[in-house]
Amino acid sequence: MLSGATCRARPRLGSLLLDPLTKTVPLMSSTGSRRFRSTSSMQGFSEMARERSKTVTSFYNQSAIDVSAEKASVRLTLATLLYSGKSPDGHHVLSSAKYLHKELPVRISHRIKGFRSLPFIIGCNPTILQVHELYIRAYHMLSDFPSIKDQDEEAHFCKLVQQLLDDHKDVVTMLAQGFRECRRHIQDEAIIRSFLDTTLCSRLGIRMLATHHLALHEDNPDFVGMICRRLSPKKIVEKWVDFARRLCEHQYGNSPRVRINGHVAARFPFIPLPLDYILPELLKNAMRISDRGGGIPHNIIDKVMDYHFSTAEESAQDPRMSNFFNNITNSGNQSNPMHG
Ligand SMILES: Nc1ncnc2c1ncn2[C@@H]1O[C@H](COP(=O)(O)OP(=O)(O)O)[C@@H](O)[C@H]1O
Ligand SMILES: [Mg+2]
Repeated sequence: MLSGATCRARPRLGSLLLDPLTKTVPLMSSTGSRRFRSTSSMQGFSEMARERSKTVTSFYNQSAIDVSAEKASVRLTLATLLYSGKSPDGHHVLSSAKYLHKELPVRISHRIKGFRSLPFIIGCNPTILQVHELYIRAYHMLSDFPSIKDQDEEAHFCKLVQQLLDDHKDVVTMLAQGFRECRRHIQDEAIIRSFLDTTLCSRLGIRMLATHHLALHEDNPDFVGMICRRLSPKKIVEKWVDFARRLCEHQYGNSPRVRINGHVAARFPFIPLPLDYILPELLKNAMRISDRGGGIPHNIIDKVMDYHFSTAEESAQDPRMSNFFNNITNSGNQSNPMHG
């Protein structure tokens, strides 16, 4: 897949504003719009602290969440999303918002239930607790939001959804950090594995629904919401090759060239978002090891799918390093570290 590296380039921070996953968040204007709390400001921090004490005291006693967690989530098929995703008078946007408004609190309450059923010593880890609180906060902000009846209310709802997407963008890194911190307390890895499988899968679903709704406002003939009507696998692979090569160049000083074979002209309807998670990881793995098809050694094959398994050196495995990296490059993309 990858041919050997030939060039030797010096790491360039300037070229590393690599954040194709995170869209620029249209920050709400302070005039004429409802203000939602941002976790980034000082005022936000003190509000967070106040909210935190509120959430912690009612940690195991949130009857509204309990009731909501009993409800089943309403799942949509790709076809429903695609065919209900466009109407000339725009009513599809309103019905999508109503659906989300009802659906998100239910899905989020399921996640909160998951946090509550973690072994207590793990649930008490400050980083895990912080994520748990983010979910509780999101639950309340969404369920306190009044019913959506017109375009104006829908626009406010979009701001809330965008804000929550942004506030939750580091959840995966935070969970990795939290579980790493309390690893020695974990007796049964299977509990954590199933918690992470469910949480991460559901998080992706929630983010896809939210992104889909926001994207319904965009006017791109190739897209219905987040669904690309004519996705080119070659193009999307190329985008991530470029990303992974730049990361490689920064990390190792050079990067392998990539040749794409196969059905390079193919196009079909598909949701690019999950590929935006998977492709950079696959390509980073392959580029780090110069994968020529026989890549993974047999003695580690059983472990490669375990959360936390990595042959990366320890220093590269600390998720705080990736946060540091995100801060200095200002990119906020959680898939920035090369590996680990
Ligand atoms: N294409 C590959 N060729 C050889 N080994 C690989 C490849 N992909 C993954 N691995 C091995 O599997 C381990 C786990 O991969 P991964 O879960 O992506 O974690 P990370 O890349 O962060 O180390 C890697 O550390 C590496 O040892
Ligand atoms: Mg990897």
